[in-house]
Amino acid sequence: MNSEVSIISRSPKETIEFGKSLVQDARGGEVFALIGELGAGKTQIVKGAAIALGIEAEVTSPTFNIVHCYEAKNKTLYHIDLYRIEKLEGSLRLYIEEILHSKEICFIEWPGSIEQLLPPWTQYWQISIISENERKIIRLR
Ligand SMILES: Nc1ncnc2c1ncn2[C@@H]1O[C@H](COP(=O)(O)OP(=O)(O)OP(=O)(O)O)[C@@H](O)[C@H]1O
Ligand SMILES: [Mg+2]
Repeated sequence: MNSEVSIISRSPKETIEFGKSLVQDARGGEVFALIGELGAGKTQIVKGAAIALGIEAEVTSPTFNIVHCYEAKNKTLYHIDLYRIEKLEGSLRLYIEEILHSKEICFIEWPGSIEQLLPPWTQYWQISIISENERKIIRLR
C-alpha cells in the first residue's frame, strides 16, 4: 500500500505517460478506480494504459456504452465509465463483477455506484484539476 504517491501532471501528455506507467508491470487482474471531476483527465490515464498495452484503437469516453473492451496482445483492457449511474443491477452488475475478478486489466471512471463491488486489490487514484493544464494525481489506497 502506497498512500503517499502524489504526482503533478502539467499536460495531457504527462497524464498519458502516467497512465502508461500504471500498467507497465501489469500481469492481469489489476483494477484501477479513477476518481475525479468532469474533465479531470481520467480518460487520458486510460489512453496511456492502452498505448502501453499496444492497443491501436482510440480510447474515447464511453458515452453510450458503459463498458468498453480493447483487445491487447495477450490481455484485454476494460474501460468502464459509470458516470450518472446511481445503482447497478441485473446482468450489467454481474458482468462488471465478472470483469473485476478476471485476469484482465480494468479501469473504472466514476466508481461510486460499485464501491462495494470493488475487490480489495483495487488501486484508487484521484486526479484533481489545479489549473487549465495542471493536474494533481494522488494514490488514495
Ligand atoms: N495535465 C492534464 N492532464 C490531463 N488532461 C488535461 C491536462 N491538462 C489539460 N487537460 C485536458 O483536460 C481534459 C481531460 O479530459 P478527460 O476526458 O480525460 O477527463 P475525464 O476525467 O475522463 O472526464 P469525464 O468525467 O467527463 O469522463 C482533456 O480535454 C485534456 O486535454
Ligand atoms: Mg472520461
